Amino acid sequence: MFKYLVIGNPIDHSLSPKLHNYWMNKNNIDGIYEKKLTEEDQIKDLIQELRNNKLAGINVTVPLKKVIIPFVDGLTPEADETKSVNTIFKDNEKIIGHNTDIGGFELGLRHIKYNTIGKKVLILGAGGVSPSIIYALIRMKVSEIFLSNRTMKKAEEIKNSFKNIKIIEWGKLVDCDIIINATSIGLNKNDQFPIDLKNIGPNKFFYDVIYNPSETNFLKLGKESGNITENGKMMFIYQAHQAFTIWHKTMPKVDEETIKLLDG
Ligand code: ATR
Repeated sequence: MFKYLVIGNPIDHSLSPKLHNYWMNKNNIDGIYEKKLTEEDQIKDLIQELRNNKLAGINVTVPLKKVIIPFVDGLTPEADETKSVNTIFKDNEKIIGHNTDIGGFELGLRHIKYNTIGKKVLILGAGGVSPSIIYALIRMKVSEIFLSNRTMKKAEEIKNSFKNIKIIEWGKLVDCDIIINATSIGLNKNDQFPIDLKNIGPNKFFYDVIYNPSETNFLKLGKESGNITENGKMMFIYQAHQAFTIWHKTMPKVDEETIKLLDG
């Protein structure tokens, strides 16, 4: 039986095992996918297990997506450019780090048929997921990307990799078509969004990377001022879909049943 893991800290909340085990079952794959609370000093041993075929693949989540990089043998261009690894697979005995958050974000927007071409985007937050979103948005031909973060230094670090983005001060707003919450504000249901967003709508697209809770106060505010909204659920499903396809060489179905699986 092949064994897969998602590693991170915290890890209890992760829905990856539920989704991957469901798809393996549907596709008659003899495997098991588990979550493992992991500290940085355990990474080396886990990669060793992958080398020895005790593990068949690893998903990586916060806060290990960057620190895992020195432990793998190679990176795909996506993982290299974003300095973020969320999927590890073996290719000809080499351990490769890849980033499926990029494809997850892109396919999530395609799923709802949102056309990004020529759009202006404001991203709030310069944490771990932001480079993946920027990479995807550039590939999806948006016209401009503004990045704003409470700690400006972190936004500037991202600009080192993506020269064409513009940094704006935290709390300031710009004219845009899409506004993305890539901060962790909203993970707790009562988190209030610290920026006044009333003047940004109507008819804009409010996107939140968070999918649990399904409607953050950021999305509520967006809805109340006449904007369309979307949470990060489809991004989550499609990042898993891409990892699954790489590991099992089989494309699982994303249907109503899959989407429902992640509710409640
Ligand atoms: P990391 O910063 O370790 O990559 P993350 O969860 O990927 O962690 O990112 C958290 C993001 O949410 C960061 O952009 C963080 O801003 P800072 O870089 O200034 O810390 C942002 N964030 C979290 N709480 C916030 C708050 N109360 N106000 C503003 N931004 C906040």
